[in-house]
Amino acid sequence: MVPSLRVSLAALLSAVLLVSAAPTASETSHGSQRDSLWRRQNDIQITNLTQTEITSFRPYTHYASTAYCQPNTTRTWTCGSNCEANPTFKPVASGGDGVVTQFWFVGFDPELREVIVSHQGTDTSKIIPDLTDIDLPQTILDPRLFPGVGFPILVHNGFAATQSRSAPDVLAAVQTALSDNGATQVTVVGHSLGAAIALLDAVYLPLHLPNASVRAIVYGLPRVGNQAFANYVDAQINTSITHINNMEDPVPILPPIFLDYHHPSGEIHIQDSGVWSACPGQDNRSNECIVGSANLLKNNETNHDGPYDGVEMGC
Ligand SMILES: *[C@@H]1O[C@H](CO)[C@@H](O)[C@H](O)[C@H]1NC(C)=O
Ligand SMILES: *[C@@H]1O[C@H](CO)[C@@H](O)[C@H](O)[C@H]1NC(C)=O
Ligand SMILES: *[C@@H]1O[C@H](CO)[C@@H](O)[C@H](O)[C@H]1NC(C)=O
Ligand SMILES: *[C@@H]1O[C@H](CO)[C@@H](O)[C@H](O)[C@H]1NC(C)=O
Ligand SMILES: *[C@@H]1O[C@H](CO)[C@@H](O)[C@H](O)[C@H]1NC(C)=O
Ligand SMILES: *[C@@H]1O[C@H](CO)[C@@H](O)[C@H](O)[C@H]1NC(C)=O
Repeated sequence: MVPSLRVSLAALLSAVLLVSAAPTASETSHGSQRDSLWRRQNDIQITNLTQTEITSFRPYTHYASTAYCQPNTTRTWTCGSNCEANPTFKPVASGGDGVVTQFWFVGFDPELREVIVSHQGTDTSKIIPDLTDIDLPQTILDPRLFPGVGFPILVHNGFAATQSRSAPDVLAAVQTALSDNGATQVTVVGHSLGAAIALLDAVYLPLHLPNASVRAIVYGLPRVGNQAFANYVDAQINTSITHINNMEDPVPILPPIFLDYHHPSGEIHIQDSGVWSACPGQDNRSNECIVGSANLLKNNETNHDGPYDGVEMGC
């Protein structure tokens, strides 16, 4: 193991600030616009969501929050208010230990007629050090889990390892939930580290479920992979990705772009006013989007956990 050097968040963010003065490759690349909850096909302008569109995310926000609950309570759907927020959910499997493998659960929502997969995140105080670690080795995805998605696609080493530990059990549970309910739609959710795992699941699951439609709705997503990874995600026209960022949360602007970390398209940014803005492209620099909102001078770790339309993440 190479000993890792830690730099301060402030130092990294100031580097982000300096670098953001220059145009990046991602500015010219075009993320394809896909089906999404709020139908923004071919949008090139920033648009604001209606209240109805914002409210339509509620079930998913609660599912993302629920992944922080102990697996023995998500398996029986007895985790308290988080479970009660989606009262008709039919759990299929749960797992993880919350230490080496983040908690996860899989089940079926009969109202949405979707299989839901959710992954636990981590404390803000734990994820920031992981993302500002200057030793941020990128790795190829495990070819047994991700056949055909090889070099030059690279992702954060730690995120890849974490996702791989739950991947086979999650896939088996999704297959059961799809066939038991005659369903075809899978939505993967998560917050923070759980958002990173969910994004990797949204790349992984379609490779093994050719007849299912998979999408991700995630909250406070850190950057997961390099430019080739972001472009690969954007090119999967049958997989929609929505990543919702709150106010001046620093996590979604880490790891920094200058270390070759890039977000796929599909950002929704919650502004201080409470307006939800759909931001086209990758890492949109507009001050209505996260890259233009959070920086050295203005960031707020408290924003990471929410509120996302009134929902604070955590069990
Ligand atoms: C979106 O809302 C912001 C206020 O946060 C406003 O300044 C902007 O004009 C709105 N954009 C559109 C397209 O309505
Ligand atoms: C669930 O597991 C946790 C951790 O192992 C334990 O403390 C708790 O008592 C269990 N709860 C139930 C309802 O079995
Ligand atoms: C997907 O659907 C096709 C056509 O209906 C079918 O032949 C195939 O077996 C299905 N594949 C899986 C993995 O279910
Ligand atoms: C996307 O889905 C459509 C309709 O199911 C299918 O015809 C097409 O091959 C898929 N495209 C990719 C890139 O998977
Ligand atoms: C950011 O959004 C603006 C619309 O306000 C759009 O013109 C621009 O292309 C977007 N940037 C990127 C990198 O996609
Ligand atoms: C951070 O955000 C929270 C929630 O919006 C707010 O209460 C707090 O005052 C903010 N802190 C700073 C330093 O702006």
